[in-house]
This record gives sequence, structure tokens and C-alpha cells, in this order.
Amino acid sequence: MTAVPVPGAVGPARWWREAVCYEIHPRAFADGDGNGTGDLPGATARLDHLAHLGVDAVWITPFYPSPLADGGYDIADHTGVAADLGTPADFDALVAKSHALGIKVLVDVVPNHTSHRHPWFLEAVAAGPGSRARQRYIFREGRGEKGELPPNDWQSAFGGPAWTRIDEADGRLGQWYLHLHAPEQPDLDWRHAEVVAEFERILRHWLDRGVDGFRIDVAHTLFKAEGLPDAGPGQHQDVHRNHLMPYYDQEELHPLFRDWRALLDRHPAPAGAVAPHERVMVAEAGIFDRERLARYVAPGEMQQTFNFAFLECPWDGPAMREVVEQSARGMQAVGAPVTWVLSSHDAIRPVSRYGGGRLGERRARAAALLMLALPGAAYVYQGEELGLPQAHIPDDRIRDPLWERSEHRQRGRDGCRVPLPWAGSAPPYGFSDAAAEDCWFPQPADWAELSVAAQRDDERSILALYRAALRLRRAHPAPDTVLRLQGPANGEWFSFERSAGLRCLVNFGARPVPLDDRAEVLLSSAPLDGRDVPQDTAVWMT
Ligand code: NOJ
Repeated sequence: MTAVPVPGAVGPARWWREAVCYEIHPRAFADGDGNGTGDLPGATARLDHLAHLGVDAVWITPFYPSPLADGGYDIADHTGVAADLGTPADFDALVAKSHALGIKVLVDVVPNHTSHRHPWFLEAVAAGPGSRARQRYIFREGRGEKGELPPNDWQSAFGGPAWTRIDEADGRLGQWYLHLHAPEQPDLDWRHAEVVAEFERILRHWLDRGVDGFRIDVAHTLFKAEGLPDAGPGQHQDVHRNHLMPYYDQEELHPLFRDWRALLDRHPAPAGAVAPHERVMVAEAGIFDRERLARYVAPGEMQQTFNFAFLECPWDGPAMREVVEQSARGMQAVGAPVTWVLSSHDAIRPVSRYGGGRLGERRARAAALLMLALPGAAYVYQGEELGLPQAHIPDDRIRDPLWERSEHRQRGRDGCRVPLPWAGSAPPYGFSDAAAEDCWFPQPADWAELSVAAQRDDERSILALYRAALRLRRAHPAPDTVLRLQGPANGEWFSFERSAGLRCLVNFGARPVPLDDRAEVLLSSAPLDGRDVPQDTAVWMT
């Protein structure tokens, strides 16, 4: 038995410690104006689904003006609303309705880079080498006799060099600029005072519009090591050592995030705010060393950081047990809750990841009950509650920059960004009034049974399972739970107590696990075999 204390009482102001937050990827969520692309009015009209599900908050991925080179994470105006998604008034309406339903609203802040169409970058390219405008980004001369080689060996997360050379105004090949992602996403220089000031303005803008917090995109990459040293061979290969990369996890991040936290804490609550009103920041930090990751949620910094080790863990008892224990231990050191997550707009859907078909569905259901029983916060990505599998996107419809950057070796993340099926027997399944072929991505022909309408009144559905789990979870808060995992040394199954009245057991192994006589079953991810918990099943019990 291993005891992992989760310290700290949860006052009502610290709502985020146990919140379940639902991720909305707006272009694929619901279309309000019938043009085939999901939008903010469409999302507002469907908030009743989320209220029925019982979530505490929504996080809306970027809805800002963008050329869409990377699904909206290439932002041309960080305080605007993309014309295809709606207007600032539509955003206000979404916030107002969410708050009226008791649902808090988080938005993305993308501070590492802008779009190459951002006015600052256009100005920088036009202004030429040595200009003030170029100092907001990371422009450098190339290596080699004529500057023909990139300034260092850094690789883009989407493949290929992290540097692109520009044509100067006089037509000659000129300086290179850094982009850790697509060339359309130039990295900002976070040692430049104007960059710091601009993002404070952006945070304040959205706080003034009533948001309850921010998801901070690639929070670990904003600062690059002085001198931009080479990273060396194999730079993306060992995720457990990625904090050693010269473009990851630099010390200067922490004073910056402390300043942001102070800004959030000081900012006055807007009229009509849902009380209690502590604003939250959740780090998207791909750091796998648990002590380094915990620094992002140390007192006075952010409150949450996605637990990607849990998301990336295969469906395997010993591996899951290790990840759960180590995650809790890492966060315990700084008094933060673990932020559990099984899916996002960047990850292969759990049903497909865990084996696909009936097997994948069964495991995804069990994984959901595991995640939602664990003490801490949880994020649910749209369609996870419907058990959607990863969809196939035909070559000519792929949008993800990974596809081109990997020379068509990686299809990328579009398969989890397919419009949600709401109702009906054929695409677009109530997602839009547009014709199916005009929708954001094509939907599979066999999703009718997965639609919200088809599942809503079926108590065996995964939607009903999520809903029941969210209700029970709320009835069994776990603010001070000491996580004690119990189970055999071979890790075939483990169990733990969420609260005095709720225990969870997950069986990964082929051997059935008998429940003890006193246990009363509250919820299970699959039917039990008498008093036996079969393989790939999670059960909640008293
Ligand atoms: C993480 C986002 O989730 C992902 O979709 C995006 O491509 C990168 N950050 C770059 O902004």
C-alpha cells in the first residue's frame, strides 16, 4: 500500500481543485449559422448539453482571428473574435449563458508565438534587420559562409528545422526567424518588455470580458536559453529529459507566471460573476519530469497543469498504477491537485488509442471512471463523453500542418477534430444545417448511434456513464483525500478510496476480481459477473 497525501483544504473559492472542465473546440462543436463551421452562437445554443452532463467549467480553444495554419493557434489578433466564429457580442453571450448555468469559462492564451499575419510580424519583416520591430521576435543571421544554414539545430514540433529564412525588402535572402511550430507561427522574444506588456493587456482584456481563467498554450517554451545553443541530436526523443532542452523549461518562466497569477488575483470580479471567483490558469506544459512539472503549480504560480503522463499511458495496469502514484506524489510536493486528462484536440481519441472497436470502447469507459474517481481536477474533451473514435480524414481534407511538414508521413490531429454528432441518422448529424460535404471535416457514416440524441436516454450509453459519474463525484468531494492505491504487486488491478463513501476498483487483467461482501456497487463501466469485476472494467462502490 502506498500513501500519497493530497494536502490543503478546499475553500469554496478554490473551485478549480475538483472542477471538471469541458474542452470546446468551436469549429467542430456546433454550427449556429449553417455555413458548415462550428461557431460561438452554435456553442451557446448547445450549452444545455453541458449543463445536463454536469460540468463545472468550459475551456474554449482559440476563437481569435487567424489564418488557420495551425487550427487557430496561429493568432493574428489576440483580443479579437474570428469572423467565421462570431462577434465579440457572441462571445459575451456565451459567457453570460455559461455563467447563468453555473459554468465557468476558460479561454486559451497563446503567448509563445503569433501568426505570421500578426501586425507585429508584418512590421518586423518590413522593417529589416536590426530594427526595433524585429526584436519582438527571434531573428538571427544564418550560419555558413553566406548565412545559408539555420542559426542552430532546433527542430520544429511539426518536423523540419525550427527556422525559416525570409526574403528581405530588397529581394535578397536575409535573416532567419525562429518558429518552434509551423513557419506561420513565429516565436516571440519573451525578454522584450513590449511582449510582456502586450500579454498583460491581453489577459486583462479577457478578464474584463468575464472569463474565469486561462489555458496557457505551450507554457514551457516561452523563454529560450541565452545564446540559443544547439540542442544536440535526438532532441525530441526522450520526453523524460525534455526539460533539458534549451527551448524548454527555462527559469525565467516562473517569475513571469507569478506576475500573471498576481494580475489574475488582483483583477476585480466583473458584475454578475459566478461566485466564488478565484481565476485559474492551467499550464499546457509538456514536461514529464514530475518535479520540474510541479514547479508550474507551486504556490503563487498557476493552479493546474495537465497531466499528460496519464493521457499518454497505455491501457496497462502496472503502468497506470505507476503514473497515478507518481503524478499524485509530484503534485503533493507543492500542495497542488493533479489535473487528470484523457483526451484533447491534440491526442488520438481514447477509444482508438486503447485498442479500437468494442475493446477500445470498453477500456475508454473504464478509463473514464478511473479518471473521474481520482482526487483532483479533470478535463473532458468534446466527444469523449460520446465515446467517439478517431475518424479518418481523406488526404485532400487534412488541415494539420504536421501532414505537409512530415512529407505526408503523419496524418496529424484532425481525426479528433471532427464535428460532433448531435442527432439524426446521417452526417452532419445535427451539427449544421449545411450539407455534410460542406462541414468542417467529414463525419463517418456510422456515427448515428453515437449522437447525443441517441445516447441521452439510453442508460447503457457512455454519455449516461459520464453523467452519472459527474453527479456521484460531486456528491463525494475529495478535497483532502490521501490517495492510497491497493492491489497486487503484478498491477493487474488496483483500487483506492476517493472519499469515505466511494471507492474505485479498476481491473486491467484477465482474472476476475471478486468484490468484498460489504461493497455496494454505485456505478460500473461494464456489467459485473455476479460479484466479480471482469477485465477492463472499473467499478465505483461504497
Ligand atoms: C498546443 C496546442 O494544443 C496545439 O494544438 C498547437 O498546435 C500547439 N500548442 C502550438 O500552439
